[in-house]
Amino acid sequence: MSDPLLKWRPHFPILESKAGYLINNSLGAMPKKTYERLKEYADLWSRDGVMAWHRWLPMVQETADMVGGIINAPQGTVMMHQNVSTLTSIFISALDFKGPRNKVVLSELNFPSVAYNWFAQKRNGARVEVVKSRDGGLNLETEDILKAIDDSTLVVQLDLVLFRSSGLVDVKPVIEKAHQHGAMVMLDCYQATGAVPIDVQALNVDFLTGGSVKWLCGGAGACYLYARADRLAKLQPANTGWFSDKKPFDFRFGDVDYAEDAHRFMGGSPAVPALYAAQSGYEIVREVGVAAIREKSLRLTTMLMSLADAQGLKVNTPREPHRRGNTVCVDFEHSEDCSRKLIESGFVIDWRPNGGIRISPHFYNSEEECRAIMARIAELRASGTLQAVPAGERGH
Ligand SMILES: Cc1ncc(COP(=O)(O)O)c(C=O)c1O
Repeated sequence: MSDPLLKWRPHFPILESKAGYLINNSLGAMPKKTYERLKEYADLWSRDGVMAWHRWLPMVQETADMVGGIINAPQGTVMMHQNVSTLTSIFISALDFKGPRNKVVLSELNFPSVAYNWFAQKRNGARVEVVKSRDGGLNLETEDILKAIDDSTLVVQLDLVLFRSSGLVDVKPVIEKAHQHGAMVMLDCYQATGAVPIDVQALNVDFLTGGSVKWLCGGAGACYLYARADRLAKLQPANTGWFSDKKPFDFRFGDVDYAEDAHRFMGGSPAVPALYAAQSGYEIVREVGVAAIREKSLRLTTMLMSLADAQGLKVNTPREPHRRGNTVCVDFEHSEDCSRKLIESGFVIDWRPNGGIRISPHFYNSEEECRAIMARIAELRASGTLQAVPAGERGH
């Protein structure tokens, strides 16, 4: 079957030198255009000096609105920042845990960095309730999340796609129940945006964060926070700075006068080079289209699963398409050592404790690459050379 998305391969130089660049759950391939965009940044700085800010400052909202286009957020409701952990802490700094509504619902499968920020609020009165996984730390049951929501719930913080198993959480009923109880929902969509269609307005989610290094192919330092317009207008983050103010260049001393739009989350000066890099990724993802990316992802992940079944590997990613993200996690004896040997053979993947080897094709990957990695796994397992890796030797 011909695959129209393969025409994008020449736009991603790394694909030429790897047997399979299948680590898009961690770092998407760099678009060739990013070279030009970063040069544009350097040229402007070099040529115009301080006047470059006239271009750089509007770029913050422009970039945020580009991400907004991918998740169907209205203009002015998304803000860029360096990382999701910081964005979460900015959001949290606008909350009050002193009253009776002080419960925060998390799952034990949330990305730990984000959860740390919530646990740190216990000192300010937050009660953190952690929803457990029933299957030993891979997936979540919606029913269990719903049970944790009550009238004392302030926020439910969930990952849309779970980083360990690539399970896709059914968040719609969670959002509905949270709203019935007067609670808000914050979704971390880092493992989803750019590969799983997201429509913040249809979901009616209150807040959403995510970043660009993975499926958006936008590099590091360009993360985003969406806030539903009515929520946005009420949030006053204590973690703030001059660009959160309506008029930063008035240099007024005293209380911050929060900007009406998402600038109220901005705080200090933006990480400008990251915005240039991010835009080149967003442009391609928008042009390819998330619906087409998702369709291809389901096809390749289904194929990977049947090839894993044929070898008798444990598949830790849910089978049903509506519960599956964009990665297939496979596990077997000495899978960690196998992951290292796959990397030596030119297959770029990663491994997580309990999840196993994460194989993450994107729109530019081919069926051949997916078949080749599974064939290499079979070869390595048959070789009898795989062994246990001491836990202390774990790297990135
Ligand atoms: C679900 C999820 N959230 C957040 C992050 C990263 O957070 P930060 O931008 O703070 O490094 C990752 C990185 O892998 C992730 O998978």
